[in-house]
Amino acid sequence: MEMSRLVFASHNQHKIDEIRAILGPRFSIIGLKDLGCDRDIPEPHLTLEENALAKARFVVQHYGLDSFADDTGLEVEALNGLPGVLSARYAGHAKDSRANVKKLLDDLSEQKNRKARFRTVIALIMNGKDYLFEGTVCGEITDKPRGGLGFGYDPVFIPGGHTRTFAEMPPSEKNRISHRKIAISKLAGFLVQASTTR
Ligand code: IMP
Repeated sequence: MEMSRLVFASHNQHKIDEIRAILGPRFSIIGLKDLGCDRDIPEPHLTLEENALAKARFVVQHYGLDSFADDTGLEVEALNGLPGVLSARYAGHAKDSRANVKKLLDDLSEQKNRKARFRTVIALIMNGKDYLFEGTVCGEITDKPRGGLGFGYDPVFIPGGHTRTFAEMPPSEKNRISHRKIAISKLAGFLVQASTTR
C-alpha cells in the first residue's frame, strides 16, 4: 500500500518521534527541519485552535503538502482559563518555565479552587479540508512544585485520579495518559480510517 506523507509543523523532535511511534510505518511523518524550514511559525492568535490551524496552513501555503500542527495550554478555572493560549509566555517573552510556574503559583496564592486542565488541539489540513482533534486532562494545581521530570507546568499539575504530579511520573506513564496522547490518538484513528477508505 502507498505510504501517506504528512508534515508535522513542529521543530520539536520529541513530539515528532512520539507521533511517529503512535502512527507506525504506514505514515511518513516529516518535521519542519526535514523540509529545510528553520523558521518559528508565529502563534499570534487568541485560541489554541486558531494557532494550530495557522501553523498547519503555513506549511500547506509554503510547501503545498498536507500538514498538521498542535498547540497546548494549561487552563486554570480560578483564572478564567489563563494561562491558556499564553502558557509558554505567561511570565514574559523568555518562555522561562520556572518563571511561568512561579507566576501561576503567585496568582493562585489566595485561591482554594485549584482546578485546571491541560488541553491540546491538533489541526490537520488534508486535501484542502480542515479537521480539529482535542485532548484534555483535568486535574489540580499544587501549592508548590514537586518532581524533577517532564517540562513546563508538569511540577505543579496533578492529573485527576492520581496523587503525583506529572513531573513525579516517569515519561512513559505521563505519555500514556497525557492530553497530547489523547489528541494524537484521535488524529491517528482518523488517519488510519481515511487511509483505508481511500
Ligand atoms: P506547546 O503548544 O506544546 O508548545 O505548549 C505551550 C506551552 O504549554 C509550553 O511551553 C508549556 O509551558 C506548556 N505545556 C504544554 N504541554 C505541556 C505538558 O505536557 N506539561 C507541562 N506543560 C506543558
